[in-house]
Amino acid sequence: MLRNALPKIVTALPGPKSAEVIARRKKAIPNGVGCSAPCVIARGEGAMFEDLDGNTFMDWVGGIGVLNIGYSHPEVIAAVKEQSEKYFHTSINVVHYPEYIALAEKLNSIVPVRGDEKKTILINSGAEAVENAIKFARKFTKKTDVIVFTGAFHGRTNLTMAMTAKIKPYKFGMGPFAPGIHRCDFPYMYRRPDGMTEKEAIDYYLDKLEMMFLEYAPAEEVAAIIFEPVQGEGGFIIPPIEYVQGVRKICDKYNIMMIADEVQSGYCRTGKFFASEYWAAAGAAPDLMTSAKSIGGGLPLSSVTGRAEIMDSASAGEVGGTYAGNPVACAAALKVIEIMERDDYAAKSRAIGKTCVARFEQWKTKFEMVGDVRALGAMMAVEFVKDKKSKAPAKDELAALVAECAQHGLITMSTGLRGNNLRFLMPLNTTDEQIEAGLNILEEAIAKVMK
Ligand SMILES: Cc1ncc(COP(=O)(O)O)c(C=O)c1O
Repeated sequence: MLRNALPKIVTALPGPKSAEVIARRKKAIPNGVGCSAPCVIARGEGAMFEDLDGNTFMDWVGGIGVLNIGYSHPEVIAAVKEQSEKYFHTSINVVHYPEYIALAEKLNSIVPVRGDEKKTILINSGAEAVENAIKFARKFTKKTDVIVFTGAFHGRTNLTMAMTAKIKPYKFGMGPFAPGIHRCDFPYMYRRPDGMTEKEAIDYYLDKLEMMFLEYAPAEEVAAIIFEPVQGEGGFIIPPIEYVQGVRKICDKYNIMMIADEVQSGYCRTGKFFASEYWAAAGAAPDLMTSAKSIGGGLPLSSVTGRAEIMDSASAGEVGGTYAGNPVACAAALKVIEIMERDDYAAKSRAIGKTCVARFEQWKTKFEMVGDVRALGAMMAVEFVKDKKSKAPAKDELAALVAECAQHGLITMSTGLRGNNLRFLMPLNTTDEQIEAGLNILEEAIAKVMK
């Protein structure tokens, strides 16, 4: 059964059938849609997929965090089939339908934003969720500006490109961008100024945030501060909880909406259902939270949840969209959430995190190139450097590592402003044996690339 298989490569890569389709892709699809994997998928199950040439790969990228529940979960397939036979589409602006309402109710009951009475809007993509969160924050506070961070990624629409940090490849030559967005330094502990303790660094970064109001945008004009509980495209950087508590205090002081962008960190990835649960437990729950990616098990869907008074600040027709909250995607999401709660995917995430981090820490001692290891549950990254002292980013070496892993049937992906972090977003139902096999492939690949 593919679900329990291990990587197995039976042709040179790409195989002949895959090579033919990749050549067609090059002619049909713009270069701007990047992809480097040497294979074309034929079918997937769990963490595994088979390509057109009969090679078996293990996918530790999961469609960039979309497949926390893995490929082709039988119960999700059944839910999608059942809904498709009833109706594919109707707009929530035209006819009421129960799937949207049930999913909003469910998210209201589990999303850890502040407040007793919560409401949820459903849209299609992560960027759309972020756009809507900003719309609600502006409507509610009657303020305009937004503070974002170095390393942030919030999407590829005009507003979210303005909010996203990395210029190449995400926004180069595509401006001008939306105004009113101000960028503050994110607490990147591994690269904090030399000689600072972690405690001093937290104060230093919080002070930078306060300075934003003096130098760039008066607090009276700031509607929202938005950040990711674990920065995804920024390199899987985890802000210390004391920093998050400090941001919460600043938001309260100036009546600013604190928004958690959980597009990549949600749906059990970090060892809790939502990473904001860690924040809430520390008394720093956000006002609004976005989610997307793994919500629909692969069908396009996203959400914004907040307390009712914020969410009701927009009048009828001011938010929504033709496809927003598609019934088939909602049926899939309801099933995904049910399975994740029933089978305790958060615990699976913590277990994967524990196994992998133990191995990563060994690599840190064994390999000069392994500079830092970061993890919250199974949202994990290894930062590669030329040497531990200089911390100079080993971007090309990591690119070679990713290519080497693919040749052995392990699909991985780099991340980060400097392109030198290996990120892990494996399906959370990857088996223990598969985890072991993947770590072995990686370890051999690191040793080879280091030579
Ligand atoms: C934190 C975060 N926000 C927003 C987005 C944008 O999501 P989408 O690509 O679905 O528009 C992403 C995508 O990677 C993300 O990681």
